[in-house]
Amino acid sequence: MKAIVVTDQEAGTAGMKLVERPRPKAAINDVVVEVHASGFVGTELAWPSTWTDRLDRDRTPSIPGHELAGVVTALGYGTTGLSIGQRVFGLTDWSRDGTLAEYTAVEARNLAPLPGDVDFTVGASLPISGLTAWQGLFVHGRVQAGQSVIAHGSAGAVGSMVTQLAREIGAHVIGTGRAADRQAALDFGANEFVDLDNEALEDVGQVDLVFDLIGGDIGKRSASMVRSGGTLVSIVGPVEARPADGLAVDFVVEADRAQLGEIVERVRDGRLRTNIGTVASLDEAVGAFNSKERRTGKTIIRVRG
Ligand SMILES: NC(=O)c1ccc[n+]([C@@H]2O[C@H](COP(=O)([O-])OP(=O)(O)OC[C@H]3O[C@@H](n4cnc5c(N)ncnc54)[C@H](OP(=O)(O)O)[C@@H]3O)[C@@H](O)[C@H]2O)c1
Repeated sequence: MKAIVVTDQEAGTAGMKLVERPRPKAAINDVVVEVHASGFVGTELAWPSTWTDRLDRDRTPSIPGHELAGVVTALGYGTTGLSIGQRVFGLTDWSRDGTLAEYTAVEARNLAPLPGDVDFTVGASLPISGLTAWQGLFVHGRVQAGQSVIAHGSAGAVGSMVTQLAREIGAHVIGTGRAADRQAALDFGANEFVDLDNEALEDVGQVDLVFDLIGGDIGKRSASMVRSGGTLVSIVGPVEARPADGLAVDFVVEADRAQLGEIVERVRDGRLRTNIGTVASLDEAVGAFNSKERRTGKTIIRVRG
């Protein structure tokens, strides 16, 4: 099968190569999925799991990309819950070969059914950004109606989901990002917007929840904006400064079939709009990931069709 591999951590996306690899086999509780569309987060190439397995052994050449939408073509020993020919989408294990390939093997429990009226490209754009927003807001942040939320990078892949889901439950959302992203953030539902390059974040006052996906100085300044009893949720690693009288949580997104179902239902009924920037074929993927232009929204690789 055709697949993109990486072998050199120093090379970043420039080291990606389109090659022939053996088709994966389904292990216990796995399915093999014929990948129709794949999502890739650039920072994966900095994560240890792209380079080593769970015992820290070199696993290169490794296939990056951990979001997919496709069709089940094989079931492993003992696999239940999904069937051959079923449309699925989901988030694959960080430590196994991923989805920038014609086929991938993945534990069935990491996938959810993809309804027939949801395009594969849309399905592949949802798992990481949708699940991260869902888990950060509802599982770790325990956001409630009427609370105020700072959604950093609110025009980006995760931030646009955070903004929409927080608005849906009745929170007041302060989006942030670049000046050029103000309108996009407001269109995703932000009540207000702070241009981080030209406006003072602190002017918005204390909030119940900060959803940080920027870190660094913005992350540190955000900690002081969490009101008593509030929460700073970070998806960019351990927080460097904690709220004086609140919680700080950092987490890595996990696969969850029920949450994927909640997310795709919202896409179907129009409550949630996905944020796709570029769609490219597998042959064009290495070029797309190495583009020098500023990319907004997710890059989705249409592997088939
Ligand atoms: N822990 C987890 O489970 C998890 C899951 C998903 C993502 N992540 C991480 O979360 C981060 C965001 O991911 P994403 O897919 O949402 O990325 P994205 O689509 O690029 O969105 C990030 C947004 O934030 C903006 N931004 C970043 N730094 C900024 C700054 N200093 N000032 C103003 N705006 C800034 C970006 O603008 P520019 O493009 O102009 O910088 C972009 O609009 C990445 O680091 C990713 O690795 C972690």
